[in-house]
Formats: sequence, structure tokens, C-alpha cells
Amino acid sequence: MCGIIGYVGNKKASNILIDGLLALEYRGYDSAGIATLENNEIKIMKDKGRVKNILDLDGYDKLQGTYGIAHTRWATHGKPSKENSHPHFDNSNTFAVVHNGIIENYNELRAFLAEKGYTFYSQTDTEVIPNLIHYYYTNIEETDKSDTDKTLRAVAEATKDLKGSYAIEVISPLMPNTIIVGRKDSPLVIGTKSDENYIASDIPALLTYTKDFYLLNDNELAVITKDSISFYNTDLEKHSKNIKNIEWDASAAEKNGYEDYMLKEIFEQPNSIRETVGSRLKLNEPVNFDDLDIKPEYLKNINKIFIVACGTAMHAGLVGKVLLEKLCKIPTEVDIASEFRYRDPIIDDKTLCIYVSQSGETADTIAALKLSREKGAKTLAISNVIGSSITREADYTIYTHAGPEIAVASTKAYTSQVVLFAVLAIHFSELLGYSDSDITINSNGDTIKLEDLKNDIINLPKKLAIVLENTDLIKEFAENAYTEKDMFFLGRGIDETVAKEGSLKLKEISYIHSEAYAAGELKHGPIALIENGIHVISILTDESLAKKTISNIQEVITRGAKTMVITNQNLEGHTFDYVIEIPKICPLISPILSVVPLQLLSYYISKNKGLDVDKPRNLAKSVTVE
Ligand code: M6R
Repeated sequence: MCGIIGYVGNKKASNILIDGLLALEYRGYDSAGIATLENNEIKIMKDKGRVKNILDLDGYDKLQGTYGIAHTRWATHGKPSKENSHPHFDNSNTFAVVHNGIIENYNELRAFLAEKGYTFYSQTDTEVIPNLIHYYYTNIEETDKSDTDKTLRAVAEATKDLKGSYAIEVISPLMPNTIIVGRKDSPLVIGTKSDENYIASDIPALLTYTKDFYLLNDNELAVITKDSISFYNTDLEKHSKNIKNIEWDASAAEKNGYEDYMLKEIFEQPNSIRETVGSRLKLNEPVNFDDLDIKPEYLKNINKIFIVACGTAMHAGLVGKVLLEKLCKIPTEVDIASEFRYRDPIIDDKTLCIYVSQSGETADTIAALKLSREKGAKTLAISNVIGSSITREADYTIYTHAGPEIAVASTKAYTSQVVLFAVLAIHFSELLGYSDSDITINSNGDTIKLEDLKNDIINLPKKLAIVLENTDLIKEFAENAYTEKDMFFLGRGIDETVAKEGSLKLKEISYIHSEAYAAGELKHGPIALIENGIHVISILTDESLAKKTISNIQEVITRGAKTMVITNQNLEGHTFDYVIEIPKICPLISPILSVVPLQLLSYYISKNKGLDVDKPRNLAKSVTVE
């Protein structure tokens, strides 16, 4: 999704702006632009296509300004083109603006401004913003105000008119060496250092420069020079703000010798799981969440949990549901955030709503969270990004600590979310007093002890390392299957949730259509699509369901399917084309192991097809618009 960069300091801004945009490339975009200001004139360089195209534009190498703003655009209103790229000017070329988000009432604002004589040169919603600022600037009556103060007032008035979401940067010759920024429902951070300040839509883009950040809140504005940052609300009341020190290492956001970020992130999973579990879980001790103060009395009163998220985070939630229901016996539903926010869900103060988001900036997830809070529920955020919007909106937050995830396709964030659900469910179970009882894990009445589950969680990194050592068969399958047009993923119970995640990964980075089905549902329709040679991938980790799933796989084999089975079960007496063996583990956390061959499979298929694994077409890392 769109990315924002800004710089004000003593160095040549253009280089820093371009580097920042390159660091944001992973978010996905189709055009890019920068604006710097020198000799009282704003110089804009922008075009559709990649960031590096800007370097070839006429005059780029002559840019000398020491402050400026920059943007990567992911088209929403108007096709990718030079005219629609940011920055956008107002009609008098006095204010240049970049914008992330969507202005929902831009048609009304456009009509209003057109009536006042303004002309529009792009199809974007953004272009109303610089013109609105100009409109308010020219209508401000206080003559005693400085140009910067008048611009700030104009920006504040303009943002009050905007419906929807925005993160904006504004520069103007009226306020030399100054950038004004503001946000609502779209992320924006300010990285600070002595004698220079940076702006970005996410933290990793600035980690090579600083670890000290101000995280802008909704309806907050900031006036930034190289040695000062002042914060205001939209009524221009000034306030102070604390710096947040971010511990992430800049090298963690680099490839470290891997061909792609996705591969690096897949192989980081033993470590990211270790980081997520951290000191929260130890044998023979109750789980300890330093960052979560949920009381047993509150939990005992809860009669329903909703887990709400999008995409891969929602798939982690599907495993979370199983864990919470089994370990805590609280009915749990999983919802897609974009549906939840509009379906008028039944929520009250006895409902706990858990929101899962790697980025913490997903617009639908944030909106759903706000809705459930308004309806009286307590909200718990699970996020990977310290200080992200969702964590600031929620009553409680726990972090996955998986380190920066750069590839658009989520991998290590998923496994960290799942393991965090496991630790959370054990914690809740202990708070509810189930710690000594056996926990029933399937319809056969098989049970586990919490201590055994803890032991399995502690051993996960070792077992993940074993899964990651065995890639040969997966590579072979990918070489044979990359020209396919369709594939199927099957599983029962918790394995079905992994089938869904495997199918999403394949679609995202290999552009191969696939369906994920509960294996038992196959006969109710989709088996009509099974024909000679189609590839069917099954996940089989739950002993209580193994025989049933095997029967379903036999049904597709009979119809000519080529099969791959990912399993930790004994399959003696059965023949499949590919069997990927993974270590035995408690079925409740088996997705953390069984998903890895699927992540690798989609990666190798994508590589075989020669695609851009890290930046798949049409997708963005963080979906900050609805
Ligand atoms: O940042 P979030 O976890 O909220 O993102 C949610 C989805 O957009 C994300 O998981 C998406 O499905 C990924 N591209 C999956 O690989």
C-alpha cells in the first residue's frame, strides 16, 4: 500500500528520500515521487513505475534541497500514471502534499472547490487536499500570524473536512525548512536524531537512521524542522509526546545473504518462535505475560471470544479458536475483519475481542476493533509492530516479537501468532483453574496435560529446524507442478486451517488458483473438479482424524490426482506421490510445523515461474485502506 517518507536536516534530501522509498518498496506500489524545496521553489519529480525511475528524470541530479517529502502510490482512485502520482500541488503551486489513505468525501470536496474556481489535473482523491489547504490559507483572517502558523491553521481546517483516512505531509515555500504532517487511520511515524528528523509510514524504513520514534496518533498534527518537532491536535492545542525507543536492528530488515526476504523469513522461524515464547513460558511455572494484566475474575465472566483479523492473521486466529476452546472452554468465533465491522455482531461486556495483525495497521481490523470497543467489549491486540495503531486502540496488547517481516507473503508472523495463541490459551486456562486437569483435545476423548503442551512449545524451534532441513522433495514437487493452473489443499480439523493458509500462500506469490477444503466436504461438490493429473496437497497431523483424511485422499487418487501429503502419522500401506514427513507434536500446535512445507512450496513454485516473490502483483504488505 502507499508509502510515505520525509526528511528535514542538513543533508541532500533527494538521496535520503529515494533510499526511504526503496526501503518501503515491499509495501507494494505502482508509481513514486519526491518533492524538495530550494530557492523558494518546490521541485517535484514523479512518474509511474519503480522508484529508481525517478533517478533518470530530468533535473533529479541537480536537486539540492535539504528537506522534502516522498511517496510510493498504490492506485486506488485513478490509474497508475504521472498525473496521479504524488506529490500533488494546489492550483497555485504553493502547497505540495503526499497522502496515504482514502478520502471518502473527495467528490463533495472536489465539487465545493470547483465552485470556488479550483481545477483538478488528476483523478485522485488526494488532489483535493493541497487545494483545500490553499482555500483555507487564503481565507484566514488573522494577519498577525506567521506564514507557518497560517499554513498550520489551513492544514488543520482542511483535515477537519476530510472523511476517511489519511496520513499527509505538506511542504510550502511559505514555511522554509519545515514539514507539516498529520494522520487519521493511516500510519505515520517520525524518527528523530539531533539536527535531523525523518518521517515514514513505517518504522523499518527508518531503522538505518534512528531508533528513536514519535508515533503520531489519529487527529494529531506535527510541525517538523531539523531541530524541533511540535505536536498539535486539530484545534491547534499544543501538547508534548514521549519518544519510543525501538529495539529492532536495521540488519534484521535486510536479506542477510538470502535470495529473497520471504526465504529469509521462512528460515528465521526457529528463532522468531523462540523470541515470541521468550520468558513467557517455562516448565512447572504459570505462564507469565509481563505485558498483559487480565484478571481471573474478568476472564471467568467472559462467555464468548471473537478473534478478528484478515488474511494470514485470520488463519492464525482459526488455530487460536481451537486452542482457546480446548484449553479454556470458552466458545470462540473467528471473523474476517472486513465482514465483522459491517455485520452488526452480538457483543457486550461479556465478550472478549482479540484482534490479530502483523502490521497493526490493517484498516479493516482497526475499524472492527473500534466497533467492538464501542459496543462494550474489552479488546486485546496481537501485533508484531510496537506502537502500531491497533496496539494504541486496544485495551490490552501482546506482541509477537517476530522481528520485521518485509516479504508481502506472511510466514514467520503466522507461526509467531499461532504460538502466541498457544501461550495465551495456556495462560487463560491457568487463570481459569484448569491447570491440573487433563484437557480433552478431540472427539475420541484423548487428553493432554498443560505441562506436556508447554514442553512441546519449548521444543518447537528444534523441530522447526528439522522441517527446514528437508527441502529436496518440496523443490522436486515445485519443479513438476509450477505450470499447473489449479491445485487443491485438504485437511480436517486443525489441518484444514493450515490447508487454507497453504492455499493463500500459493495464490499470493505463484498466481496459481487453488482451493482449500475440509477433506470431508469434498464429496459435497468440489470433487467434480478432480481430474487426471490435478495436484492435491493434504495435511495430516491429527491421529484421531488420520483414517478419515486418508480415505478422502484415496478418493482423489482414484480420480487421477497427484498427491502430496504433509504428515507426522504412520502411513504404512498407503501410497502417495510425495510424502513430506514432519516431527510429531501435540496436534493443537502442529500448524506451526505443517505450514512450513507449504510456505516453501509456494516459494519454490514462484521461483520456478520467475516471479517476484517478495513483491507479488497487486498486493501490499500492509492494507491501510478499506
Ligand atoms: O498486517 P496484518 O496481519 O493485519 O495483515 C493481514 C493480511 O493483509 C495479511 O496477512 C495478508 O493476507 C498477507 N499478505 C498474507 O501473506
